[in-house]
Amino acid sequence: MTTAPPETSAPAWRLLLTYVRPHRTALFTGALLSLVTGGTGLLLPLVARELIDDLAHDRPITGALLAMSGLVVANTVLGALGSYVLRRTAESVVLGARRTLSSYLLRLRITAVDRTEPGDLMARITSDTTLLRQVTTDSLIGLGTGGLTLVATLVMMGVVDAVLLGVTLAVVVGAGTVLGLIVPRINRASRRAQDAVGVMGAALERTLGALRTVKASGAEPREERVLHRAAEDSWRQSVRAAKWSAAAGHTAGLAMQIAFLTVLAVGGARVATGAIDVGTLVAFLLFVFYLLSPIQQVVGAITQYQTGRAALGRIEDALRLPAEPPTRPVPLPSPGERPASVAFHDVRFRYSEDAPYIHHGVSFEVPPRGMTAFVGPSGAGKTTVFSLIERFYDPDSGEITLDGRSLGEWDLASLRAAIGYVEQDAPVLSGSLRDNLLLGNPEADGSSLAAVLKTTRLDGLVERLPNGLETLVGHRGTKLSGGERQRVAVARALLRRPRLLLLDEATSQLDAVNEAALRDTVTDVARTTTVLVVAHRLSTVTTADRIVVMDAGRVRAVGTHRELVTADPLYAELAATQFLTAGG
Ligand SMILES: Nc1ncnc2c1ncn2[C@@H]1O[C@H](COP(=O)(O)OP(=O)(O)OP(=O)(O)O)[C@@H](O)[C@H]1O
Ligand SMILES: [Mg+2]
Repeated sequence: MTTAPPETSAPAWRLLLTYVRPHRTALFTGALLSLVTGGTGLLLPLVARELIDDLAHDRPITGALLAMSGLVVANTVLGALGSYVLRRTAESVVLGARRTLSSYLLRLRITAVDRTEPGDLMARITSDTTLLRQVTTDSLIGLGTGGLTLVATLVMMGVVDAVLLGVTLAVVVGAGTVLGLIVPRINRASRRAQDAVGVMGAALERTLGALRTVKASGAEPREERVLHRAAEDSWRQSVRAAKWSAAAGHTAGLAMQIAFLTVLAVGGARVATGAIDVGTLVAFLLFVFYLLSPIQQVVGAITQYQTGRAALGRIEDALRLPAEPPTRPVPLPSPGERPASVAFHDVRFRYSEDAPYIHHGVSFEVPPRGMTAFVGPSGAGKTTVFSLIERFYDPDSGEITLDGRSLGEWDLASLRAAIGYVEQDAPVLSGSLRDNLLLGNPEADGSSLAAVLKTTRLDGLVERLPNGLETLVGHRGTKLSGGERQRVAVARALLRRPRLLLLDEATSQLDAVNEAALRDTVTDVARTTTVLVVAHRLSTVTTADRIVVMDAGRVRAVGTHRELVTADPLYAELAATQFLTAGG
């Protein structure tokens, strides 16, 4: 490239090149076409001089006219082709960035997701990547072809008349200095404008994601203000960037007019003194006229690059968020087919550096097969146990093992493939019922699907729905009842044929009949699978093989319902308040 980027932009520049590199052939083809287009344009003044010469000497002008027409047509055709190739390449660069970014974001560590706003990340994929389009065409190509055309035009001008070239250069350098002051402002304003778009994305996601809550709380006006403020902020900063871009563009335009007038004056004087002839002056003026386009291209390139740099910075920031370890070249072992055993050994864990510890040395052992229940007050760290088993987070100290091997030593994907996890809020994704059920195991066949629908008592629902399994469940499954959502989540986990089934409050919203049915299913599954359940309603876990009582990040006691009622005061109290002491 002809112009070295300023120091601070080097990383963004290099990052841009990594996106552009796969498309370099297309880019060079486009650039070459643009250059040739520029070249045909450059020849035009020379032919024009010929024409004037021919006229002056009463020679026929047919040849010159034909040459001019040919050049004009070639200019148009090649120009159109070149700009198509370039735009296509620019779209490919955007595609590449979107692919990279979406693949990366799907593999983010949950810790990173906890710290970011999904809406802002969404804006980075959709809005920021779009800005790369302009950077690729206007900026890279503009700088390349514009720069080369500029140099070529200047050389041609030098050939025609060195003095007039000096005059032109003086004007151009003056304009360049002014531009140097304007450009950093464009970058700052663009970055702020894009950040504001991110804020808007985050606010939108937050509001639309919980629109019922917002409406029920009558919070529309407040949410509206947040959205409007972000939109206005983006507007303000974009207008600021537009102002400086316009100033930059018009500085270039002004410079060219000054150059034109100065060349006319100085050139006129030189014609008068006989230093040059009229044809030379006309040719030079045409060159000055032709200078306008490459200069505007270069200025456009520089201003566009500032916007692109701001977007690249935001994309790069997202790509710096911690992601899950990629699959290693030497694959780690996968858990076997048997039901898994799980153990926590003195696990200490907190969600972030500046947060308090949630687990203060949690230890327990779960042998293969059977049902283990986790009970304890809200906030005791039960869900956290499951998050750690799924390796959404890693413990700060201590060890978690599956089949006696530390979690970190299993291949992450196959570790999760061994687990069926029903989260506490039983999330259902927008899409069809079938999509939701097969999310964890798209290969599940019809008969196992039918069997699971039966055990989770969803078969009745499917029959009732006009479109059956193809019924769309709405955003986050809003078209299903709470209990239906839970049963869909359980069915999804069962269809995975897990070796370890994690159920977090999976029956909390079920009616007595459905709960009893599901309890039977789980008891059945526990004969061949290791099942861990979290339950607030002790009635659902009294038959568990063992119960782990947790309180404030510690394991208080482990035992059966019968043992714990007498051995552990907290458990006895929980049981007493739920009228379970007599039973057992
Ligand atoms: N992603 C998170 N980031 C930071 N803190 C968290 C996060 N998730 C949970 N916590 C905190 O960790 C503590 C334990 O949470 P956890 O979800 O494990 O409790 P729980 O025993 O499942 O409670 P409940 O019975 O209410 O579901 C809580 O005090 C909570 O504030
Ligand atoms: Mg919980």
